[in-house]
Amino acid sequence: MNLRLKVKEKFGQKFDEEIRFFKGWMSNSRAVGAILPTSSFTARRMASVVNPRSGLPVLELGPGTGVITKAILERGVAPEKLISVEYSTDFFNQLKEHFPDVQFINGDAFDLARTLGAFKDQQFDSVISAVPLLNFPMHRRVALIEDLLARIPVGRPVVQISYGPLSPVVAMPDRYRIQHFDFVVRNLPPAQLWVYSRTH
Ligand SMILES: C[S@@+](CC[C@H](N)C(=O)[O-])C[C@H]1O[C@@H](n2cnc3c(N)ncnc32)[C@H](O)[C@@H]1O
Repeated sequence: MNLRLKVKEKFGQKFDEEIRFFKGWMSNSRAVGAILPTSSFTARRMASVVNPRSGLPVLELGPGTGVITKAILERGVAPEKLISVEYSTDFFNQLKEHFPDVQFINGDAFDLARTLGAFKDQQFDSVISAVPLLNFPMHRRVALIEDLLARIPVGRPVVQISYGPLSPVVAMPDRYRIQHFDFVVRNLPPAQLWVYSRTH
């Protein structure tokens, strides 16, 4: 393929993702949160914490246009070992078309006992979350992180993207550990990545 065609295809695809994202954002801006899709650089940073050799599936929350989904698959996770929960039915339908073998669930990440269905007792390797936590009250954020940590082994990460300067989840040192994982300027707007884990 010649260079012009390649560039056209790359930008065409990116533009398409942005239009799809914007449509989802317009129809439900509180739930979608960010204004633009996550950059592929940020997505790769988030996916870098996944251990594709753990034998355990990975849980993704809020895949949106699928940029992070793609990065998780590129990390070496088999599509059928990726369980991904998306609230918006529009995004969900598009995601199923794009990644037919990923196990997408159209549901609420804040109600995983119900949303996960057959996977409700499944242990995961790690959790990669783009759910817009800042749009939810603190007690629900803490409950979500604790629920997620109970679904992965001690020490394994929940990675969360956020756009404020502070951890979107308040510190509870006796219950979980918070690490600032990265500040990614190659993202619009620049993004903070946080890792939550259990020590016991
Ligand atoms: C900031 S966007 C994620 C963007 C995604 N990384 C991308 O680049 O397209 C947040 C996503 O979380 C989804 N979401 C919001 N609330 C949710 C919930 N309670 N459960 C699952 N997904 C949720 C939104 O529909 C949206 O797709």
